[in-house]
Amino acid sequence: MFPSHRPRRLRRTAALRRMVSETTLRPEQMILPMFVKEGLTEPVAVSSMPGVLQHSRDSLRKAAVEAVQAGVGGLMLFGVPEKHDAVGSGATDPDGILNVALRDVHSEVGDSTVIMSDVCLDEFTDHGHCGVLDAHGNVDNDATLEIYAEMAVAQARAGAHVLGPSGMMDGQVGVIRGALDDAGFQDTGILAYSAKYASAFFGPFREAVDSQLKGDRKAYQQDPGNVRESLREVQLDLAEGADMVMVKPALAYLDVIRATAEISDVPVAAYQVSGEYAMIEAAAANGWLDRRRTITEALTSIRRAGADIVLTYWAVEVAGWLREG
Ligand code: PBG
Repeated sequence: MFPSHRPRRLRRTAALRRMVSETTLRPEQMILPMFVKEGLTEPVAVSSMPGVLQHSRDSLRKAAVEAVQAGVGGLMLFGVPEKHDAVGSGATDPDGILNVALRDVHSEVGDSTVIMSDVCLDEFTDHGHCGVLDAHGNVDNDATLEIYAEMAVAQARAGAHVLGPSGMMDGQVGVIRGALDDAGFQDTGILAYSAKYASAFFGPFREAVDSQLKGDRKAYQQDPGNVRESLREVQLDLAEGADMVMVKPALAYLDVIRATAEISDVPVAAYQVSGEYAMIEAAAANGWLDRRRTITEALTSIRRAGADIVLTYWAVEVAGWLREG
């Protein structure tokens, strides 16, 4: 007559629920992506990402210190240059905005956090693609790799602890690993954007980096319908020496995170991208979702799927909530 099994027993009090909770969310598991724009004297709001700023060099330093004090696991820096050109010269220039910002942040916070940087040309090119173009206007994989190698060494020299190649060029992890080793940066790590999809969820990021892109990235980023292909990408990156692998976006790709976690023998990261941020902020601003509960649930789900580390624009705020308990 009565149920012989009562799972609700373990949900009865907050103490019971806490005791049997399977998934943790801790500040050190979260990485804060940050934007710094050349020539700014004051930070500029990114309208499609309420609460996110394009930093000036000065405000970046301060925000980096605040993030470290909040206890986040690391910072991922993106640079926005004043001038763009066909080959993304600002990316390899030691005085380019991203390299300058890395030196600033490193001198401010040193080894007290993990300083990461984006290895990709899209922020620096006048066509907005992640690599250089060939005579037919296609992204030239191998010519791009040569630039990534130079860009990676410049970032390591500027103080990045971990580099995040995000351009989805074939062989990028191996080429960057080789270049770092040759330049004496054997200890600089690589967080490979291994499974990165040609996603509409990157929309607001385009505003954040003043992207010049017309068209799309379907010839190098993955088809959202594919998962077997992701596992191939992950395996290749592991073979090429990735220290960590990433799936991106996160919430619409929880199955890919799970599948990656099952085959990876290195830590798995997931990137809760700009569109995931914008959706929740917009719904919360309309009073349609409980902001804090929704953010916490989304992050917990990404962790439950198998991500050890989550890149999230809410890292500092959530770290504060976790401290409050
Ligand atoms: C490429 C890069 C992108 C993002 C991170 N690195 C844009 C793209 O691939 O189009 C997107 C991050 C986000 O949407 O929050 N440098």
